[in-house]
Formats: sequence, C-alpha cells, structure tokens
Amino acid sequence: TTGPLRDRFGRVVSDLRVSVTDRCNLRCTYCMPAEGLDWLPADDVLTTPELIRVLTVAVRDLGIRAIRFTGGEPLLRRDLEDLIGAVSSLPEAPEIAMTTNGLGLTRRIDGLVAAGLHRVNVSLDTVNPARFAEITRRDRLHDVLDGLAAARRSDLRSVKVNAVLAGHDDLDRLPDLLAFCLEQGYQLRIIEQMPLDADHRWDRSTMVTADEILAALRTRFTLLPDPRPRGSAPAATWLVDGHDLDGDPARVGVIASVTRPFCGDCDRTRLTADGALRNCLFARSETDLRALLRGGLDDDRLDAAIADLWRGNAWVKAAGHGVNGPEFHQPDRPMSAIGG
Ligand code: GTP
Ligand code: 5AD
Ligand code: SF4
Repeated sequence: TTGPLRDRFGRVVSDLRVSVTDRCNLRCTYCMPAEGLDWLPADDVLTTPELIRVLTVAVRDLGIRAIRFTGGEPLLRRDLEDLIGAVSSLPEAPEIAMTTNGLGLTRRIDGLVAAGLHRVNVSLDTVNPARFAEITRRDRLHDVLDGLAAARRSDLRSVKVNAVLAGHDDLDRLPDLLAFCLEQGYQLRIIEQMPLDADHRWDRSTMVTADEILAALRTRFTLLPDPRPRGSAPAATWLVDGHDLDGDPARVGVIASVTRPFCGDCDRTRLTADGALRNCLFARSETDLRALLRGGLDDDRLDAAIADLWRGNAWVKAAGHGVNGPEFHQPDRPMSAIGG
C-alpha cells in the first residue's frame, strides 16, 4: 500500500505542509484575536519522535518530495532543528522549507540551515513600523527585518516575503514594500486574505483583490509576463522590469486564492500540530493520524496504516474550496491551527 498519493482528480500529492505548533508570538488581526486562542494542550501536540515517524513514512513510502514547516509560528518549537535534521538525512532528501513570521530567526538561522533547511518564506505585510505594530499588535518590525537579513546572508536557496494586505489603505504603501524587497533581495508575494481568521470577520468587500494589488504595483513598477511555467505554485508571478535577483530577473507574485483559485493544480496535503491530516485549507473533514501513531503499532504496520489512512483521505481531496459559492462554510479551525 505504498507509492504516490493520487486523488480522484488525478492530482498527485507531493508536498506536505507540517504545522509544528498552533501558537504564535504575533497577533495579526486577520488571523487571531488580541488575547490569542485556546492553544492545544501540550499532550495533544505531536512529539518530535512522532513527527519524525510520520515524515519518514511520507518521504520514504508516499512520494512526498517537499516538506514545509509552518505554524502558528514554527520557530516556537525548540526541536525544529532536530526535525529538519531527521528529514534531511533521509535518502530521498526532500526539499525542506519553512514559513515563519521571522521573530527569532536571526538566532536560529545558522542552525536551521546546517540541519538542512533550503528555503524560507517570511510573513511581512508592511515596512511601516506603526502599521506593522497595528496589524500584528506587537512592535517587532525591527526583529523581523533583522531575521530576514540574517536569512539572506545564509546559504538558503531563496528568501521570500509573504504579505497579506489587511485593508485597502495598505495598497498605497505596497510599492514601498516591493521597493524594499527588491533592494534587499527577497521575492515578494502578496496574498489575498482568505476566510480563515479566528474571528470569522472576513468580508469580501474589505478583501484586497489580486487586480487591485497589481494596479497598485503598476503605479511605480512595470510588470512583465513571466515566461517561467507556474506549475503547482500558488503564486502567479510577474517580472519586475529593470530589476534582478541573484542574476535572474526579479519577480513579484500574487497568491489569489479567492479571485483566481488554483485548486486544479494543488499538490498539497497538510498535517496539523495535533496530528490531523487535512487535504485542503478549507477541508470539511480530516483524519486523526495521532490516534494511529499512539495506537502502539510496530513500525512496519504503522507504515502501512499511515499509507492507508492517507490514501483514504487523498480520496476526499475536493475539486475546489468553493469560497465564491453560496454553500461555503468557513472551516472550524483558523489558519493558525491548520498551518498556513
Ligand atoms: P513556495 O513553495 O515558496 O511557493 O511556498 P508557498 O507559497 O506554497 O507557501 P507559503 O507557506 O509561503 O504560503 C503562502 C500563502 O499561500 C499561504 O499563506 C496561503 O495564503 C497560500 N497557500 C498556501 N497553500 C495553499 C493552499 O493549499 N490553498 C490555498 N488556497 N492557499 C494556499
Ligand atoms: N488569509 C491569507 N493568508 C493568511 N495568512 C494568515 N492568515 C491568513 C488569511 N486569513 C498568511 C500569513 C503568512 C502565511 C502563513 O499565512 O500572513 O504569510
Ligand atoms: Fe502569527 Fe502568522 Fe497568525 Fe500573524 S498570521 S498571528 S504571524 S500565525
């Protein structure tokens, strides 16, 4: 019962996103309330050995070729270096990436890269300190910029910046953010806000759309079509005329999950910090891998059982999330408890 995971639409799942904690040290307004959320009890979170068992099976037996560690904030896990080290020492050597808010990255980056981390995406919505503090409810812009610079100095293959625009006012500041990223050598991607906030306040009329994002960028930059095929990447990209990055033309991306969904090409599956397998950010159902892991199976039987569970779940990977349809229901878990 091993081999690649193919869903009923023929999509082969090769990318696993692993949330290692639901906690975070920022409180972005489009994600969490100021007081935070009811964090998972420690016993519910998968341990280092449990995670290593799952990741080993995923890479060795199930055709997973890329692993991304997310959260909450993944750097809040002290053992992240151990997890990365374990995955990078597997013979199949998947690509290893992390999505982080950047706090504490300066101190950790060398250890993470030494353990085998290849790529980092850092969330940064603005380079305006007052606006940063307003959005994240913490006055930590300086630490994030420091973390980004440390990442850029390290031996990573790429450093990207993810920006969610919390409101239309942020469009005016967007060209400044792109200018900053071009100057520092980070690839900027701007993300349409999705209905995954804990407060269920998402509203289509306040969401900044891909078209608005592109128009704002074009007030200061010339964007050219990107000849490179998009593949299964969530971001559509453009070349920024007159700028380059590491010898290539510089790119800017837009992740338009709402106005231009890309579900048809999605090759992702997700594992939450408490060990639930979800095949979509918006999945209505999930499967409990943790119960299986804690069920006392020996390694051989565990491999087969995980594969079976995964296959069963791959079967229910939906055709699309239907965010634009009348039937849409926001999932119970917010983004931070799924893994972005
Ligand atoms: P790269 O491999 O560097 O392209 O990373 P990525 O964009 O896949 O991962 P990242 O964690 O940086 O995700 C950036 C944003 O893309 C997330 O915050 C989501 O908004 C969006 N995204 C990632 N995966 C999915 C997905 O499966 N569905 C949808 N709708 N959006 C996603
Ligand atoms: N919609 C879109 N992106 C979101 N993120 C957090 N909440 C949302 C949302 N509701 C982004 C963060 C980060 C990534 C992990 O997810 O900004 O870049
Ligand atoms: Fe933390 Fe990311 Fe949510 Fe901001 S968006 S509060 S950085 S998990």
